[in-house]
Amino acid sequence: MKTVIIYGIEHKGSTHNAVQLFKNELGIHNDNLTEFFLPRDMPHFCVGCNTCFMKGEEFCPHSAYVTPIKEALINAELVILASPVYLFHVTGQMKTLLDHFGFQFMVHRPNKAMFSKTALVVSIAAGSGTKSAMKDMTGSLEYWGVSRIYKFGFAINAANWNEISKKNKSMIESRVKKISKGILAKRNKVKPKLKVKGLFYIFRMMHKNSDSIANDKAYWKGQGWLGKERPWK
Ligand SMILES: Cc1cc2nc3c(=O)[nH]c(=O)nc-3n(C[C@H](O)[C@H](O)[C@H](O)COP(=O)(O)O)c2cc1C
Repeated sequence: MKTVIIYGIEHKGSTHNAVQLFKNELGIHNDNLTEFFLPRDMPHFCVGCNTCFMKGEEFCPHSAYVTPIKEALINAELVILASPVYLFHVTGQMKTLLDHFGFQFMVHRPNKAMFSKTALVVSIAAGSGTKSAMKDMTGSLEYWGVSRIYKFGFAINAANWNEISKKNKSMIESRVKKISKGILAKRNKVKPKLKVKGLFYIFRMMHKNSDSIANDKAYWKGQGWLGKERPWK
């Protein structure tokens, strides 16, 4: 399964280890995998120039970093976003990456390819906060149009991966197996969920009936979405 993994941290701690378990269960091999580590692969903050919205993402001052990630996302069947919990949220560098993809939020210029993708979010905390950290990632994925999103959040109650209790390790392994089984079973059967469809129709109405950003409106029109075309099959 062609996969892209974006790690919200460069070091190979618990989050990284949890993702490796998924890679094994899902049979993901290096020849079908693209990995990005943050901040290495997106070292800049969004500067708020709005150029991606007004002119196009190719004019983003950081497009040298954004474009390879955008292309890897388009080409992957499975998208994995993984971040440790930092103060009940994703790491700053994961948020920075997601900010650079605001242009493909549903209200702007969602990419048709996203509507048939499966995503998995992975978040590891020492104690608590996985729910809100995962929401940081699922929020973007849903607004990109991603239709099937799996979640794996775990509070390890330990300072690092090697100190996780046997009981928690086996819980992690069995949840990873269960989620991976679901991902593999539902492969090729991805349909947009109600929330994604609902968002699409809300923004379709907006672009049809009001003067939204000209670039966005032209994009929706060009896709045929203001007429009969839809981004899903
Ligand atoms: C800046 C910072 C903030 C953190 N905030 C939280 C938190 O809100 N909740 C929590 O349970 N753990 C928190 N932690 C601990 C990490 O989430 C925890 O150590 C996790 O296992 C790290 O995963 P990693 O090994 O992949 O880096 C924080 C750690 C750091 C460095």
